[in-house]
Amino acid sequence: MRLTPALLILSTLPLAACLKAEEPAPTGAGDFAAYCSGCHGAGGKGDGPMAATLGKPPADLTRLAGKDGKIDMARTMSKIYGASASHRGDLMPEFGPLLETDKTVLYDSGDGIPTPTPLRLVQVAEYLQTLQAR
Ligand code: HEC
Repeated sequence: MRLTPALLILSTLPLAACLKAEEPAPTGAGDFAAYCSGCHGAGGKGDGPMAATLGKPPADLTRLAGKDGKIDMARTMSKIYGASASHRGDLMPEFGPLLETDKTVLYDSGDGIPTPTPLRLVQVAEYLQTLQAR
């Protein structure tokens, strides 16, 4: 029975595939709904159900874009990233899962330098781009 170890490994593969399939890949829209819309509102206008309870109104995230219609991705991502770590953490709470670095992408936020960036942070920032008022 020299093949047993290999067979054992093979027999666990379908189970692993099953477990993976149950957890859908996170999307920018899904993460926004889960982590941001409570304060910023489902459409990002700053009118979420928690907005009234905050000392400071949540930013209107549909107006981040400049005249070219594009948001500054580097600035936006550092706002989101910084908010979780800085004293503003009380306003924008822990986004731990968005900042996990086990899944990063090489992302060029406009300076021509691809930088390893947490995938979900990029996704949620790209989702904000789709919310920009035209
Ligand atoms: C607990 C409420 C709350 C949650 C949850 C929250 N925010 Fe905020 N957010 C705020 C408030 C309040 C401000 C304004 C903060 C300030 O000016 O200091 C803000 C500001 C911002 C800004 C800066 C806008 C600008 O132009 O300076 C960005 C970008 C932003 N939020 C994105 C997000 C994203 C993305 C999420 C979800 C991952 C999120 N926020 C979750 C309350 C929240």
